[in-house]
Amino acid sequence: MESLIFEKADRIGIVRINRPKALNALNRQVIDELESLLDVLEGDETLSVLIIGSDEHFAAGADIRSMVRMNPAEAKTFSFSSTLDRIANLDIPTIAAMEGFALGGGMELALACDFRIASKTAKMGLPEINLAIMPGAGGTVRTPRLVGAARAKELILLGETIDAVRAEQIGLINKVVEPNLLMEAAMEWAQKLCQKAPIALKTAKESIGGGLNCATISEAIKLESERWADLFHTADQKEGMMAFIEKRVPIYKGK
Ligand code: CAA
Repeated sequence: MESLIFEKADRIGIVRINRPKALNALNRQVIDELESLLDVLEGDETLSVLIIGSDEHFAAGADIRSMVRMNPAEAKTFSFSSTLDRIANLDIPTIAAMEGFALGGGMELALACDFRIASKTAKMGLPEINLAIMPGAGGTVRTPRLVGAARAKELILLGETIDAVRAEQIGLINKVVEPNLLMEAAMEWAQKLCQKAPIALKTAKESIGGGLNCATISEAIKLESERWADLFHTADQKEGMMAFIEKRVPIYKGK
């Protein structure tokens, strides 16, 4: 891999985009390498959490130089919606650790993660409208679900960049930290997530995602209650509740 750097710290995977000269803009190579990495990570049972980050700038969007002369068919092929969907659909929790610019497709990559933690100096937005296009990798779909339609339109139609404090205020990101504490904060959340029962995490993720996609609240509640009851098949549920009763820390097996 040239455009990505991957390392593993115990059960936590950390992937960093590595195209510093283009502010980590996402070109075909980055996306292809991300696809290959996902092929490996999806089958890695020793992985409990994935952190996605980069050095200096999270990602300044899809690579504009690659897109400038594309026709619609080529744009369809270039689109990395499906790659970001793979990230959104991972069984394990994912955290975007954002610093510098997180714009356009870069912001959409962060939106595909379960959590977004940003450095106080991060700048983010969906500026595609300024290129006479619109977000095409989940931005128009995931942003309104996080911040509501009016604020999503503010970001997408005005195309202005906002700072991390504002992003946290409107619910676009989860947490703002001092720049030198970004990876530490992401690791802290990752370590907390590593303590939880993996099947319960996966099921909760599915229930939240599935619930948001249901046409009615009652349909979502029904699905939630089925998923909730299914968790009682797991050994980890027995262990989690026994540990509470016996006043000890649970030891989960992921079963
Ligand atoms: N694509 C390709 N190259 C990019 C890039 C991008 N998205 N963003 C930055 N770069 C390159 C610049 O071209 C420049 O390269 P050169 O030195 O070779 O000219 C280098 O990175 C440094 O950028 P700047 O000189 O522009 O740095 P700056 O500090 O003055 O400005 C910036 C930083 C505000 C982020 C500015 O680079 C910028 O506006 N970038 C584009 C942001 C954008 O519009 N992103 C959305 C892309 S479209 C998209 O993502 C579609 C989608 O929905 C999937």
